[in-house]
Amino acid sequence: MKILIASRNAHKIREIREIFALPAVEWVSAADMPGLPDVEEDGDTFEANAVLKATTLAKASGLWALADDSGLEVAALGNAPGVHSARYAGEPCDHAANNAKLLAALDGVADRRARFRCVAALSDPSGRAETVSGACPGHIIEVRRGTAGFGYDPLFVPDGHDQTFAEMGDEAKNAISHRGRAMTLAQRRWGALLASAPSRFPEGGTPPPGA
Ligand code: IMP
Repeated sequence: MKILIASRNAHKIREIREIFALPAVEWVSAADMPGLPDVEEDGDTFEANAVLKATTLAKASGLWALADDSGLEVAALGNAPGVHSARYAGEPCDHAANNAKLLAALDGVADRRARFRCVAALSDPSGRAETVSGACPGHIIEVRRGTAGFGYDPLFVPDGHDQTFAEMGDEAKNAISHRGRAMTLAQRRWGALLASAPSRFPEGGTPPPGA
């Protein structure tokens, strides 16, 4: 069965494919399907944006669709940039400018605590969606380090580690990241269901992971 990854971000698509390994599933991405609508991510929460992306693209494509919405929450900034992480320094998304703005906002600030959050939403072709979420706590350093990954990776050191996400490389990052955790829960919650190639979610939904 085909499942649409509701993203055009090559990095995210690769991370999702690496983590959410389902035999018998052929992943296609929004980049492979021209003509799908652009979704304006104007929700106030990661949940709202993930559900909006998944349901819009599922209904438009007639496929099951998996979307994620993610971002960085910085304690001393009242959880900013949050849902505005991609465009923190303005349109269009510019990772270097976002990192520079974050460093300026935290100049002289002792409390460097931050966390990445990710919500994954899976929608059936009728537009019925379920979500799971993951978080990764850490702190923001003062000078960028590392070249792997994307976004705020060069500034973020996860708790219990000395390297930034950008120094760790994909495999080590995926094992602990917000997206890795959300996708692991996604696989636990929806893996068996998707392996049976259903046409839609069962009545009453699938049990949450751990239930
Ligand atoms: P989204 O594409 O709307 O989910 O926005 C995600 C934005 O949050 C990205 O453009 C990055 O700025 C930030 N972000 C999310 N996940 C990560 C990550 O794994 N590493 C670094 N930055 C991330």
